Amino acid sequence: MNCYAVILAGGRGERLWPVASAKCPKPLLPLGGEGRSLLRAAYERVAPVVGAAGKVYLVTDAGQAGRMRAALDLPEEQVLVEPEGRNTAPAIGLAAAYLSDRDPRAAMIVLPADHLVRKEEEFRRVLRAALGAAAQGHLVTLGIRPTFPATGYGYLRRGTKLMQSEERDVFRVAAFAEKPDQDTARRYVASGEYSWNSGVFVWRVDRILEEIDRHVPDLAKVLDDLSPELVSSRGDPELARRWAEIVPVSVDYGVMEKAGDVAMIPADVGWSDVGDWHAVWEALQRGVGEVASWGKHVGQDTARCLVWTTPGKVVATLGVQDAAVVDTPHALLVADLGRTQEIRALAREARPAAPDWEELRGHDSAGMLSVLEAFPVQCRDALARGQAADAPESLAGFRRVLCAGMGGSGITGDLLARLLTVEVSPHRGYDLPHTVDEGTLLVGISYSGNTEETLTAFRQGLERTSRAMAITAGGELARLCGERGIPWLEIPSGLQPRAALGYLLLSSVPWFSGWGVLRYDVGPALKLLEDMAGELAPGRSGNVAQQLAENLHNCVPLVYAGDPLTSVAAFRWKTQINENAKQPAFWADLPELCHNEIVGYELTQALLPSACVVFLRSSFDHPRVRARVDILKEVLDRRGLQHLEVWARGESPAEQLLSLLYLGDWTSAYLALRNRVDPSSVQPIEELKERLGSGQSS
Ligand code: PA5
Repeated sequence: MNCYAVILAGGRGERLWPVASAKCPKPLLPLGGEGRSLLRAAYERVAPVVGAAGKVYLVTDAGQAGRMRAALDLPEEQVLVEPEGRNTAPAIGLAAAYLSDRDPRAAMIVLPADHLVRKEEEFRRVLRAALGAAAQGHLVTLGIRPTFPATGYGYLRRGTKLMQSEERDVFRVAAFAEKPDQDTARRYVASGEYSWNSGVFVWRVDRILEEIDRHVPDLAKVLDDLSPELVSSRGDPELARRWAEIVPVSVDYGVMEKAGDVAMIPADVGWSDVGDWHAVWEALQRGVGEVASWGKHVGQDTARCLVWTTPGKVVATLGVQDAAVVDTPHALLVADLGRTQEIRALAREARPAAPDWEELRGHDSAGMLSVLEAFPVQCRDALARGQAADAPESLAGFRRVLCAGMGGSGITGDLLARLLTVEVSPHRGYDLPHTVDEGTLLVGISYSGNTEETLTAFRQGLERTSRAMAITAGGELARLCGERGIPWLEIPSGLQPRAALGYLLLSSVPWFSGWGVLRYDVGPALKLLEDMAGELAPGRSGNVAQQLAENLHNCVPLVYAGDPLTSVAAFRWKTQINENAKQPAFWADLPELCHNEIVGYELTQALLPSACVVFLRSSFDHPRVRARVDILKEVLDRRGLQHLEVWARGESPAEQLLSLLYLGDWTSAYLALRNRVDPSSVQPIEELKERLGSGQSS
């Protein structure tokens, strides 16, 4: 009989808080023995029974699919992705529907991805016996001989003997029992009639589909409508819509308790569901004083303890008994080792509540969010200001542009480099490169007009070229231009420089257009910015910028981009996160980072455990860059590093560029609020300028 294995990788492991989480789900914890994850151990346990690696399938939800697939190195077609987890019956139904198309009479072994089995060879022998019973049409489940009166497991009551398979007795299941209280559990264990329900099932594909049809008709209806292509599709909105209709139900409750032909085979396989820290303590190798540890632990007079810590951190215990000490970068759990089954409620309480953005808005004392909301208006005003005066004829005919500017003003040079047809060099610093000559248009850009480096470079440039202009709200730069008769674009004062990007960038666009060197028309992008303002302003539901801020909260963002358009956006995300949200952030370019940064992942988890890669994506990404991003994601998954992806919006390069910049600005401002800091204040920058006596330079 043809045989497939289906590993269900949906469990999050709530009672293994604070280690297990959506970002680090329980199947990926290294508890499978010999440093393997539980998922890998499940795979290696079952693969020899089905005979070929190509016959092991994984069912997981969309949020986890990448991580799970990478952890097993499975080809994409062996990973069936539920749009969202709906408990075990739909997950099993999905796999059965898919396999039925290949061979409806095939056998199907279903096993959870997050259990531990110490006696793997015996487990495989039991499975082979179960396959014999499944061939006869029975729905077989493995019954684990209880070793203590557990209250955390469901139980099976053994009925009459049905048959023998591979010299093992196969029994009818007389009853399923829900998780019992302590007294009932004791009675069950003492009676010798009960086994733990292991969640491991063996049946023929056609038989489980028949039973789903009979007992969960709504699910059967959805499964009937799914084509194999749809089942194996990823992110298909049709599948997501149909899946959302399904009422979540477990296969035990929805099918097995109601089906007529349910059999069990007793199994003594060293099974544990590793469901809580006590179970982890049992699963791990214990040393002196029955202490089990993961990570670096030093202890004195410490006994019967579980100690878990993150790489790079040491936990020291003195005079501690019967405790679970679980340390992560974000949370520390100290619990009585005998009470770790009770952790669920505590974990819920300890988890940060969803942010109250309305309350957090109080940190925006200088009104950064309002400025952001009015950004499209600022952009239109900026274009109008540029249009108000003709591009000065005296400056025309330049071969290249050099933009001298720092920080929030300096990025204007990088952006112009993407928007113009001539070479644009952003210059950040004092001394100009030797290439500045009469063929160079020198653009001094300083919002305040008083930035030391910008003024020094601008003054130097005036000695080398007569083609010079400035963009500023005033200060020394405006004075200098007035004194020397240099054309300058005056922009409104009173904003934070980085919040004045619309003015800094777009006021000069009509001039560059007049000189015939504008590559992309930015006008149509303003409509998109207006739409985005409507979606990202405070109080909008499903606010993507708030969600991103929440994802990046307590993280060190590593912002990656793979195209000149997105790389300037990545740089802007980094600087905005620094200045607005007051937190560290870094950025890097693809494909370059594949030649250096990627090697640093080896120690990232130890040295920067809260790193989170943010891929800025664009439809203009080079196909080979796309391939690299896919591989990188797998590498990150394998290393247990978080990542997320942000796509540029719109069709044109200008739309894609501005949409990413705008989303980054919103995200950094919300992140500031999440960090309970004022996005507008940049005290350290001001202090430094003050100490250097900015504006005094010559
Ligand atoms: O955003 C900021 O506040 C800074 O990055 C400034 O832009 C930077 O210090 C340069 O000042 P200015 O833009 O006034 O030249």
